[in-house]
Amino acid sequence: MKAILFAAAAATALALAACGGEPAAPPELPEPVVETPVTPPPAPVATGPTAPAAMPEPTDVAAYMNARHENYEALGANMKVLQDNFRSDTPDMAAVAPAAANVKLFADAMGAWFPAGTGPDSGNETEAKANIWTDRATFDAAVTKLQTESVKLAAATDAAAFKAQFPATGGSCKNCHDTFREEQDDK
Ligand code: HEC
Repeated sequence: MKAILFAAAAATALALAACGGEPAAPPELPEPVVETPVTPPPAPVATGPTAPAAMPEPTDVAAYMNARHENYEALGANMKVLQDNFRSDTPDMAAVAPAAANVKLFADAMGAWFPAGTGPDSGNETEAKANIWTDRATFDAAVTKLQTESVKLAAATDAAAFKAQFPATGGSCKNCHDTFREEQDDK
């Protein structure tokens, strides 16, 4: 209480001084107290390749097709990890294993991503070709082929087995793309 009274008195004195003609220089501010953090900042959240996201209901067709595209991009990111390791003399199996497991999850999910009305006729931008809906048996076989090859890839526990299986898995992506995906630019 005493301290507060004293501070109030000091403030009054300053205010009075300020009234006396010469403008008073601003009072010096105390040095800010820099506190050293007690806890370290949280570790950054992993931003690596992900498993497939749940698809929305196809009621909003544009949103649905957008989500499908995002999922394929995420599949591509997993495949990039695998490809980089395939090219390495010393593949990092700690990175390969989760990416290969993810590819299998995409393979298992993608057969359901092409409900009626989500093709090029919808008017939305897409790389999905109309023949997915007219030749579904061939499309489904291409899905099954990726599933088979990705199961084998996910089963690889050493670098040699991974390297031996990777081309067949990648080939099953191309196998479907060659027939059912429209290349929009030369990717
Ligand atoms: C059964 C068919 C099929 C298989 C198998 C398949 N894809 Fe695709 N993929 C498609 C279709 C269809 C599209 C276009 C989807 C769209 O635009 O809605 C696509 C799109 C993509 C895209 C987006 C292309 C772009 O230019 O934006 C990527 C990336 C991709 N696929 C990667 C892969 C990878 C990697 C694999 C293998 C691990 C794979 N896909 C396996 C059918 C397939």
